[in-house]
Amino acid sequence: MGLGSRGPGTVMRFDFDTVVDRGGTWAAKWDFTMGAHGQPPPAEHFAAEGPPPIAMSTADMEFPAPPCAIEAMRDRIDHGVFGYTTESDDYREAVARWQAERHGWTIDPDWVLTHNGVLPALFLAMRRFVPRGSGVILLTPAFPPFFDAVTINGCRVVALEMPCMDGRYGIDAEAFEAACARPDTRLFILCNPHNPVGRCFTADELGLMAELCARHDVTVFADEIHGDLIQPGHRLTPFQSVRGENGPKTIVSNGLSKTMNLAGLHLCNVIVPDAGMRAAYAEASLSDGNWGLNPVSKAAHMAGYRDGGPWLDALLDYVAGNMALVRDACAERLPELEPIAAEGTYLQWIDMRGTGLDEAALMERILEKARLQVEVGGGFGAGGDGHIRINLACPRSMAAEAMERLARALRAND
Ligand SMILES: Cc1ncc(COP(=O)(O)O)c(C=O)c1O
Repeated sequence: MGLGSRGPGTVMRFDFDTVVDRGGTWAAKWDFTMGAHGQPPPAEHFAAEGPPPIAMSTADMEFPAPPCAIEAMRDRIDHGVFGYTTESDDYREAVARWQAERHGWTIDPDWVLTHNGVLPALFLAMRRFVPRGSGVILLTPAFPPFFDAVTINGCRVVALEMPCMDGRYGIDAEAFEAACARPDTRLFILCNPHNPVGRCFTADELGLMAELCARHDVTVFADEIHGDLIQPGHRLTPFQSVRGENGPKTIVSNGLSKTMNLAGLHLCNVIVPDAGMRAAYAEASLSDGNWGLNPVSKAAHMAGYRDGGPWLDALLDYVAGNMALVRDACAERLPELEPIAAEGTYLQWIDMRGTGLDEAALMERILEKARLQVEVGGGFGAGGDGHIRINLACPRSMAAEAMERLARALRAND
């Protein structure tokens, strides 16, 4: 159970404890783990025998969306007519209000365009604004599809490994400047909060990145899709809020897909402050054939922006509880693991190098003994080896069971 409080006397209760069976719903995360639609799990991942695997990989949640979003979709479905639906001022204003109220970021509603996902928006931006052969900066370890976005579009990854000091990742300012200064560097893909390491970059860090990108004419694609998922005691500093008058050309992508578990409804915002760049982006999007919104998705998002705040507050408390559970389990039973304290996202990045096991042996324990589907660090590029990423947007009992299995698997044949 989680509490969402909005001012005195308005405490609301939401259920995050119930385990929802996602079998038979074409859930990508569970199909991949269990085998599609009740088939046995893929042999390369799990032996046929043993307790059901637990999927802690893909970044969606095990929770139903906020009741306000579900009710809005029900009402829309009951209406029964699903003709074409467009972008509209009320949607753009809802996005602007949410950013102002939750993050203190003032945007002009006219800056808001939409797409059916952050990755399609990034691919489009790559095609339209980044000439083939360019260098694209990524702070690694980085969300694996970013590498694909760069290489599939004929560009080259400029990987900057983030230094980690006392369990907190940061930026190597000198390396960042050198990367920006290379003549062929044209884009920086910022992920804030950062998937997988969970950093919410500070105004100073973002200001430095903005200044260096502006100085060397490097465009910034700021992926802030995890931007509402902020751990207690931290805050999101939206990139565009610090970039200043003379900042770099910027495209920000955000939305409620991670925030309220609406990812399958395929709607995200593409916020482009510069009028010329916005027109170029809109034209490129149209020339790809993108037009209109899914009406059921739009109903859910409108309701989420209007009434979803208390649910989100409760969710964040609940996820913080899961992160504390993982931290305590590691301290008590697995001191050789180092869970990196997340400032944002519901993802937990864990340094497993203290086990002394190589990746193959580690994965054998995690997949075959613990039967946990996790994201393997090597896929996140430089700095990822020896780490795993687990998704803690799940009922407490699932997080507890996962840690119990992990402890037993890593203790087996010590
Ligand atoms: C940082 C980040 N960006 C983008 C995405 C994908 O977003 P979309 O489904 O809107 O393309 C994810 C999904 O895990 C993500 O973690």
